[in-house]
This record gives sequence, C-alpha cells and structure tokens, in this order.
Amino acid sequence: MRKLDKDVFPEKCEIPSQHFPGNSLLQDNYLVGGELRKWKGEVQKVYSPVYTRAGDKLERVFLGSYPLLTENESEQALHAALNAYGNGRGAWAVMPVEKRIKHVEHFTFLMKEKREEVVRLLMWEIGKTLKDSEKEFDRTLVYIQDTIDALKDLDRRSSKFEIREGVIGQIRRAPLGVVLCMGPFNYPLNETYTTLIPALIMGNTVIFKPPKHGVLLHQPLLNAFRDAFPPGVVNTVYGDGKEVIGPLMTSGKIDVLAFIGSSKVADILKKQHPDPHRLRSVLGLEAKNPAILLPDCDLQNAVTECILGALSYNGQRCTALKILFVHKDIVSQFIKSFNEGISNLKVGMPWEEDVKITPLPEDNKTDAMQEYVEDALEKGAELINENGGHICESLMNPAVLYPVTADMKIYHEEQFGPIIPIVPFENLEEPLQYIVQSKYGQQLSIFGKEADDIARLIDPLVNQVCRVNINSQCQRGPDTFPFTGRKDSAEGTLSVSDALRVFSIRSLVAAKSNEMNKEIITRILKEDKSNFLSRDFIF
Ligand code: G3H
Repeated sequence: MRKLDKDVFPEKCEIPSQHFPGNSLLQDNYLVGGELRKWKGEVQKVYSPVYTRAGDKLERVFLGSYPLLTENESEQALHAALNAYGNGRGAWAVMPVEKRIKHVEHFTFLMKEKREEVVRLLMWEIGKTLKDSEKEFDRTLVYIQDTIDALKDLDRRSSKFEIREGVIGQIRRAPLGVVLCMGPFNYPLNETYTTLIPALIMGNTVIFKPPKHGVLLHQPLLNAFRDAFPPGVVNTVYGDGKEVIGPLMTSGKIDVLAFIGSSKVADILKKQHPDPHRLRSVLGLEAKNPAILLPDCDLQNAVTECILGALSYNGQRCTALKILFVHKDIVSQFIKSFNEGISNLKVGMPWEEDVKITPLPEDNKTDAMQEYVEDALEKGAELINENGGHICESLMNPAVLYPVTADMKIYHEEQFGPIIPIVPFENLEEPLQYIVQSKYGQQLSIFGKEADDIARLIDPLVNQVCRVNINSQCQRGPDTFPFTGRKDSAEGTLSVSDALRVFSIRSLVAAKSNEMNKEIITRILKEDKSNFLSRDFIF
C-alpha cells in the first residue's frame, strides 16, 4: 500500500463525467403535512469527504445545503403526524392493510425512478463506493418488497378467528402512534428505511430526521413521499438534534423512537420523554464484534473474511469485526497473509473500479483514528502493515496494530474506522473473558475446523451476543434474519418480520360466544363493515 499524498485526490477534470456530482443541491424545502414547505432560514452547507486538487491545494467538493430547521418547524411536523394519526382514528391508522400496501407499492415505483440521483448523492455525501451505494439502494428496494410479503403473510395468519373457553376472538396487529425515525450515516438510506417502511406499513405516522451526513440523498425522494402517502403520514425534520429532536421528545407525544446511532444519544433522547414507560424504543447502537481464530482454522478463509469484516466501507459498519483474537500458534502466518491481503486493497475515490478504501465523511475522523493508533503505539503495539495508518486529509490507509493489549483504548472502544487491532492469545479464556466483560454484545465470528471445538464455544457464546458466525464475517444480512444485540448494542429486534411486530401491538376483538354476538360478528363480516374485524384474505 503506497504512502498517501495529495495526488490520491483527483483534479476536477479527472473525475469521469458520468460520476460528476452535478449542480449543487440547495435544498430549501421540507415535507410536513403533505406539502413541501419552503424554507428561507439558515442552512447547513454540505461538503463531500472527497477533495479535488488544484495545483498543490486540496478542497472539499461542495455538494449543496439543507435547511437548519428550528423548534417551530419541528412542532409543525409533530402536529402534522399527530393529526394524521388522529389518536388512532386517522384514515391511515384505520386503513385496510391491503390499501396501505398499495401506497407503499406506489412509493416504491416512484423511488425506483430516482435510483441514479440517490446513488450519486449517497456516494458523494458519505464516500461509499459506487458499487456499495448501488447495493444499498437495491437492498432497500428488496427490503420493502420483503416487508410487503411478510405483512401479507402476517395478515393472512390473523384473518382467522379463535374460539377458546366460550370466547370468540380475532387477534391482529394495530399501530402504535407517531414514530420518530433516525438512521445512521453509514447506511443513511437503508437503515432509515428499515424502520421507516415497517413503521408506516403498520399504520403509524412518521417523522424522520436524516443523519448528520447523508441528508441530501433523501431530497429526491420527498416528492415520492408526498405523492404516495396521505398528508401528514410522512414528515421530515432537518438540523441540529438539540433544536429539532429535543422538542419532539419532551412533548411526550412520540410513541416509538427508532434510532440507530450511539448509546449516549439514545440515552439522552429516551430521558427527554416525560413518560418513559409510554415510549417504545428500537435501537441499533455500538458494537465491538470480535473474531476468534483457533489454531486449526482455514487461514486463507479467515484472512478473506477478516479483511471483509474489518474493512468493508472502511470499517464503518456497526457489524464490522473490530478486534481479532488470533491464537499464538498461527499469529505470524496470519499476519503475513492478512497484511498481503490489505496491501492489495485499492485506495481511491468511490467511483473507481474495484476501490475498497475511500474518504471518511465524519469531521476530524482521521484525527480520532490517529489518536487510537498513537495510544496503542505508546503502550507497546506496532503498526505492522506497510504504510498502515498513513493519512491524507479524509483518507486513511488501514492500520493493523499488533500486539494489542487490554491497557490500550483500541482494545475496548469502538473505532468505527479502518483500524484492525490484533490480540494474540494462548488460552481461550482470554477472548472469552473479553466477550463476557465487554460493554457490547452484538455478534462475533469463530474461525476453526473442529466441530467439537466450535460447538463448545457456541453454547456459552450465544448467551453473550446475538449472532455467532462460523468461519464467516459478522453481518446484518440476510435481512430476514433477526438483527439485534445485547448489553449496550441494541434494544429490540429488526428483521423483515420482527420489524412489523416492533412497530405494532397485538389488539383483539373478543365476544362471549352466544347467539347475539355470533350474529353481530357474522353481519360485520358478511357486509364487510370493519377493516379490523374481517376475514379478507390478501393474495
Ligand atoms: O452498521 C450496521 C449495519 O446494520 C451493518 O449492516 O452487516 O449488512 O453491513 P451490514
């Protein structure tokens, strides 16, 4: 891997025209109550993590701006969402499932038309490779379709009646109210929609706030939200969290908080709600997923999976492998192949073919990464890959640190970036104790060949984390699998079908089984008088 210097960034004329960011997007509207309201106040300028070079000067590419709304607009959004929900009496909340599905399908149709625009903004705003930006868009479309299919299944299962102990009942799922959706910068589209779409389709109304980075990419979809859903069902707020989210939470009128980000922010938001027992939270938080490499593991597979696991999107995934425990017997061999693999990763601009390491979007991120590296070096680790940790502005070569010990910050803290700490171990108790003592409990990976050894690890470890991966990196997908975590890593479970449950509650209609009640129920069903109490079967 070469040392990074300014010419890793392109001159403007070197950017292929098909990938050029285009005209700056000066967003001056926000969606509230079914209309795109004009914003004339302060705006936040958006710069790409990608720089361009002119002579020996580097300059971040200006992408546009978005509204810095105030408490006032945030209250408008809340008002609109509450109105549309109408205490559970609004048209959206009582609409038959089949009709709600039609609205979501209409949205998907409109969304598809914006693929190119959204993908381009995604790539420029957060520095995600073109291929991964396309994948994020397409995966989101598949997620929406899977959600529709899962809801049809759920609805079909609930269209039956039960008679127990002389009581007739029909049990279905009903919405919860107003949902506040806040996604993370690393999957600004996908992880916002994996809460927003299930929340909507279950009959809730939504206020969504894009993450700090990855805002403009939502703008091309505002018209689609406006046109596909009844007024007030989807509303947006932009700006400083304290200013626009604080008033929403303190109002006590948010029924569900769907937030993917840090536990620190999640705690602040939850505490702001005056009646915490009324707030349902769905949280995706930090993680420090470890890999354990046993002495007999298939080294080549472990290297491939650990590189993917630690460095996809520069390690900026909550599921990334963030610490590798490698048995002493294989550690030197592993390091040799691992470093070779890393040196083959292409560092460059997100649109370049086969590029893997790209500019980091967060302010001062490379400084924070450098601090982790310096702390580890001071305490006895070495940077063991060629030009590892080398930085030029927002770009950073992956840094492999070895041997990492418990007194280093990188041993405990989530780096969320391109640093790979390697800890040698002799006794399996060391990684096991690490996992038990860790604040986090999302996933882990075990690499080994002996079924007996792996089985002995699985049983205690499934009680520490929520997914044990065998000879595979940690990951969220497939999206139909449950995605959750223990301890400080998550609250609630998200998978296509779990999300439908999370954003709804079971509600039922029950009646003593006597002639009068049977007749009433039969009439309601025959004459199709209720959307809830119904035997309609969605095909
Ligand atoms: O940032 C956390 C994401 O949910 C990870 O998803 O494993 O599909 O990259 P992924």
